[in-house]
Amino acid sequence: MTGIGYEIARQLASKGTYHVLLGSRSTQKGSAALQALQSQNLPGSVELVTLDVQSDEQIEQARTSITQSHGKLDILVNNAGVALPTGATERERLQTAFDVNATGPYLLTKALIPLLRKSSNPRIINISSGAGSIGRRLFPDSPMYKIQGVQYRASKTAFNMISACLYVEHGLGIEQIDSKKAEGEGLGSEKMKVFTYDPGFTVSNLGEHNKPEFGARSAEETVLSIMDVVEGKRDDEAGKFIHNSGEYPW
Ligand SMILES: NC(=O)c1ccc[n+]([C@@H]2O[C@H](COP(=O)([O-])OP(=O)(O)OC[C@H]3O[C@@H](n4cnc5c(N)ncnc54)[C@H](OP(=O)(O)O)[C@@H]3O)[C@@H](O)[C@H]2O)c1
Repeated sequence: MTGIGYEIARQLASKGTYHVLLGSRSTQKGSAALQALQSQNLPGSVELVTLDVQSDEQIEQARTSITQSHGKLDILVNNAGVALPTGATERERLQTAFDVNATGPYLLTKALIPLLRKSSNPRIINISSGAGSIGRRLFPDSPMYKIQGVQYRASKTAFNMISACLYVEHGLGIEQIDSKKAEGEGLGSEKMKVFTYDPGFTVSNLGEHNKPEFGARSAEETVLSIMDVVEGKRDDEAGKFIHNSGEYPW
């Protein structure tokens, strides 16, 4: 088992204080991940949720099953992503990239917000990419200046705006923008901590270069930094576009 998502589930389950809902669009891969985690006798518990972020039906099913089984959600990590989308045409590849990297996570988050509101300390961690930073695309000294790939970059930029909107509307509290609307929607003084996070170059199945020989670091190391966000050590950076040791320009 590889990938940042699997490692997030593993490190959460290692803490012993979390019940992990592991989303997977493939029942086969998800069951294998679940078995691999369960075989490690970790102190926390893990449950599989079938979830393709491109499917409205599966998003609704996930919302219903989490509502029925748990009644609330404390942390949402939007990790699903695709760097090399398939499709017969350029339009189809762009559509897939935007659907998986931006539209799907947004619709999932919207569906789960009522459950996050039931938590006493809700947080949303959006796994984006430094490749989505417009500042880094335009700054010649940035390592991201020359990296090609409009589909991935543009869809992650879209995701960054979605994340910024979630922060302003649910993190600052929409009442600061339109108190009447907030009252009408019963949002009160909700304060969700919303983070936009670049995990950095990591070993995974994302692309052909995500290997140690090209300088990618281990998922274990990457996720140790993500756990700081999970555990509230970087709460003062909510609303920012952050990475393992600092902040990126949007
Ligand atoms: N690794 C890096 O260097 C790096 C750098 C910056 C940002 N990121 C971001 O980190 C996140 C995790 O990527 P990774 O590096 O761990 O790559 P990965 O191993 O390819 O993992 C991506 C995961 O997203 C899942 N996924 C794809 N489409 C989906 C869909 N429609 N519904 C639900 N799940 C879907 C994949 O499921 P399947 O296994 O079924 O395909 C896979 O488990 C991504 O958002 C990526 O953009 C990674």
